[in-house]
Amino acid sequence: MIKDSKKKLSPITTTLHWLIAIVLISLIAVGIYMEENEVFFLYPIHKSIGMLLFSVILIRVVWRIKSGWPEPVSQYKKIEQIGARTIHWVLIIGTVMMPISGMLMSGAGGYGLSIFGLELLASNPDELNPGKVIPLSKSLAGLGHTLHELGGNIMIFAITLHIIGAFKHHFIDKDSTLRRMLGRR
Ligand code: HEM
Ligand code: HEM
Repeated sequence: MIKDSKKKLSPITTTLHWLIAIVLISLIAVGIYMEENEVFFLYPIHKSIGMLLFSVILIRVVWRIKSGWPEPVSQYKKIEQIGARTIHWVLIIGTVMMPISGMLMSGAGGYGLSIFGLELLASNPDELNPGKVIPLSKSLAGLGHTLHELGGNIMIFAITLHIIGAFKHHFIDKDSTLRRMLGRR
C-alpha cells in the first residue's frame, strides 16, 4: 500500500479527499436549498447520501489516524502551518459531526432513519395526526438541529478558507500542494 510522502500522496488519500469533498459540498448546497424552499422530496435523498457518506468519512478518519497528516511540501511560516492544520482539523471533525447531528435530529425527532428505503430506525407516527410524527426526544432533536445548522455554517467558512489556501499555494507560492492532492508529483 502506497503511503503519503512529501512528493506524492497515496491514492487512498486523494480518492477519499475528492469523493468526500464533492459529495459534502453537494450535501451542503442541497441541505440549504431543500430547507429554505421546503422541497420535501429531497429530504430522504439528502439523508440517505449523508449516511452513506458517513461510512466513507469514518474510513478516512481511520486512515488519517493510521498514517498521520500529509507532510507539507515545503517549509512555510509557522502561522501558515498552524492555520492550515487548524482548518484540516475543523474540516475532518466537521465531516464526522454533520452526519451524526443529522441522524440525531431525524432519529430523535421521530422521523426514523433509512438509507434509500432500507430502514435503520423506525419512524414514530402520531396516530391522531396522520402524516405527522412524535419526537422520541424533543431536546435531543433540537440539539441535533442546532449542531447541524451551526456545523453547516462553520463548514462553509472553513471550506472557503481551505480553497483560498489551496489556490494561494498553487498560484502565488507556485508549489505542488494542489498538484499533489490531484495525484501528481
Ligand atoms: C456530511 C453530511 C451532511 C451535510 C454536509 C449536511 C448539510 C446540511 C445543511 C448545510 C443543511 C441546511 C441547514 C440549514 O441551513 O439550516 C442540512 C439540512 C438538513 N439535513 Fe443535513 N447534512 C448532512 C447529513 C445529514 C444526515 C445524515 C441527515 C439525517 C439522517 C441530515 C438531515 C438533514 C435535515 C432533516 C435537514 C433539514 C432541516 C430542517 O428542515 O430544519 N443531514 N444539511
Ligand atoms: C474544491 C475544493 C477543495 C480543494 C481545492 C481542496 C484542496 C486541498 C489540498 C490541496 C489539500 C492538501 C493540503 C496539504 O498538502 O497540506 C487538501 C487537504 C485536505 N482537505 Fe481539501 N480541498 C477541497 C475541499 C475540501 C473539503 C470540502 C473538505 C472537507 C470535507 C476538505 C478537507 C481536507 C482535509 C481534511 C485535508 C487534509 C488531508 C486529508 O485528510 O485528506 N477539502 N485539500
